[in-house]
Amino acid sequence: MSIIYDEEKKIFKLDTRLSSYIMAVTEGNLGQVYYGRKINDIYPGDLLRLKELPLTPGVNAREEAAFNDSYPFEYPAEGRSDFRENALAVETEDGFEICDLKYDTYRIYDGKKPVEGMPALFGKEWEITTAEIDLTDSKTGIKVTLFYSVFEELDVIVRRVRITNTGTGKLIIKRAMSASVSLDGDGYDVITLHGAWGRERRVQRRPIDIGTYVCSSKRGETSHQDNCFMGICGHDATEDHGEVYGLNLVYSGNFAAIAELSQFERSRFMMGINPERFSWALLSGESFDTPECVCVFSGEGIGGMSRRFHDLYRKHLIRSRFVDRDRPVLINNWEATYFDFNSEKLLSIAKQAKECGIEMLVMDDGWFGHRNNDDSSLGDWYVNEDKIQGGLKKLVDDVNAIGMKFGIWMEPEMISPDSKLYEAHPDWVIRTKTHEPLLSRCQLVLDISKEEVKEYAWKCVKDTLSSANIEYLKWDMNRQLCDIPDGEISHKYVLALYELQERLVNEFPELLFENCSGGGARFDPGMLYYSPQIWCSDDMDPVERLSIQRGTAICYPLSTMGAHVCSSPNHTTGRVTPFETRGIVALAGTFGYELDVTKISAEEKELIKKQTDMYHRYSMLVRNGDYYRLASVDDNGYYDAYMVVSKDKKEALLTYVQVRARANYKSRRLYLKGLDEDMVYEFAEGYEGASPLHGSTLMNAGINIEPIPGDTQARLIYIKSVSGGLFKDILTGLMGA
Ligand code: DGJ
Repeated sequence: MSIIYDEEKKIFKLDTRLSSYIMAVTEGNLGQVYYGRKINDIYPGDLLRLKELPLTPGVNAREEAAFNDSYPFEYPAEGRSDFRENALAVETEDGFEICDLKYDTYRIYDGKKPVEGMPALFGKEWEITTAEIDLTDSKTGIKVTLFYSVFEELDVIVRRVRITNTGTGKLIIKRAMSASVSLDGDGYDVITLHGAWGRERRVQRRPIDIGTYVCSSKRGETSHQDNCFMGICGHDATEDHGEVYGLNLVYSGNFAAIAELSQFERSRFMMGINPERFSWALLSGESFDTPECVCVFSGEGIGGMSRRFHDLYRKHLIRSRFVDRDRPVLINNWEATYFDFNSEKLLSIAKQAKECGIEMLVMDDGWFGHRNNDDSSLGDWYVNEDKIQGGLKKLVDDVNAIGMKFGIWMEPEMISPDSKLYEAHPDWVIRTKTHEPLLSRCQLVLDISKEEVKEYAWKCVKDTLSSANIEYLKWDMNRQLCDIPDGEISHKYVLALYELQERLVNEFPELLFENCSGGGARFDPGMLYYSPQIWCSDDMDPVERLSIQRGTAICYPLSTMGAHVCSSPNHTTGRVTPFETRGIVALAGTFGYELDVTKISAEEKELIKKQTDMYHRYSMLVRNGDYYRLASVDDNGYYDAYMVVSKDKKEALLTYVQVRARANYKSRRLYLKGLDEDMVYEFAEGYEGASPLHGSTLMNAGINIEPIPGDTQARLIYIKSVSGGLFKDILTGLMGA
């Protein structure tokens, strides 16, 4: 059993393969005792420091206000002298913000319950054990239920909280974090992901000093700027060594990840809905569920944490049937044509793409209403027959007749002031009573939290997808939310989005579905519950992509990262790069094309044929394998390298990109990772060096990569085990024993 409650000692102990998480009930309080590498004892001594004096002059040794200020509460609440960052703040009808949570009862069971209306991790009964712990405040009637679902094999604890109003009056929740983690000591770094449009999810690592550090979004979505991930590790933890904790919120709206170091060397970390601009009225008898927070523990550095996240999400979060399937190589017309296209143009792209081995045409923005630019027609989801002559079905049939699948772009949450929809329903937009709502990319946001608006959005999506043989949908969202009228709308908006996408995946289970937000602003676990892939960034420059994809892979599997080969010079950076390099870098994601195939050279078309073959050869390995970072151009300024190793360790794919050539240098030594020390490997593609060699040699002695003339040159090296076996097995085979 991975969760036990010791009645006598009043201890909860949650064990995974490598970690332990311990809570104790002391004088009615639930305290966090330990989280870290697995330990054998139930209660590891007096880690709660209950017998130590609080730092206040007083006659008794337990002056309560001071005690509360240092006690590691499992779910700290506002108002009773825990002056650190709190997980819960609730206002009573009288305007008091106070809550004194005391332990009440618990339940432990196999399996895990879904969270109503929200994305949630899932699994078989035997894979998960869950504990529910109730805390109550008898004065206000607040009941807090803490949920812990242990995925033992993966070193994961998934947490969430339900807040129930058991009293008679109305309560206002002002803060309800999904998880709080309290760690002893002060030597921690936090790792977070930040960026901007076109350069999402760059890894940032910083030490936490006295005070508070917050990584958050109040943009109505996860955002380009910040991601709902926080890694925690000691200053000395590296890619491959040391203890690392990863928190990731299963949510697609405003979030906050908070790190705080307080007096007495205690560090507190939290993750949940952003308390800023949030409030939620809870009437008597009502409950509020927070989103889930995934807590991963790794004893093998940051890389170990990433691999656990990848395994968890591939198996226990992504529901799509495509999670295990080869996805068709698609060509998207956005950067090829922008808004300037018609059926004829699309069909000519489809024909030539088909000849190169591409399997699906995706028609992007601009096919509906009178949209020839980004300034009109969102909301008017009927086809523009001036561009798509004969209608959508005819186009799809014609594309299918070429032997290509067809996919489409939509942006269901948005409305253009220049649209028939706006003429009819100007009151459907999110806005306050006082100010004219601000435009962003010439558009406003539909308030899908309103029933009729949500139903309209759903009808548009459903009618479009039902009107022809559409096999892929790109669901876009090209602006962030402002002019928010109250504290509830942002969360209600996210719930409505989830409801729409839930309907979508239920009604169209065979649809390949990709979420997107002006590039990669909605890359979060919430979205992965609905779509197996998310557009990673509008920036497809392979050099930029190395950093974006590296940061994204901190917690999201490669199979989820929308990645395309673009044209050169790149539309965002203007950088010129070799076609081969663009293909090799896009291979670390879903793989597709976003260029005008009718305008490229015959040599480049030949390269596409080779690349689509390459994709099908390696897609299973990339999709299901273990990912290892070897070197980052962000750290060394010259080159990047990463590997994917199959679960049975019999094959591996090494990507090396020499971003910047260097004058007068010899070959560069790369130490491979993740192989089996005793297995014997050969270089099957992309490398001329001597082989076979043991995994131990490849990892400890390394291989040399010779300098390549020029910048942005890439190598893809495929390594496989000789006769698929261990050295001793091969010897045995040779000797005929
Ligand atoms: C933003 C997306 O990221 C692009 O790929 C493209 O679909 C545009 N929106 C279309 O408006």
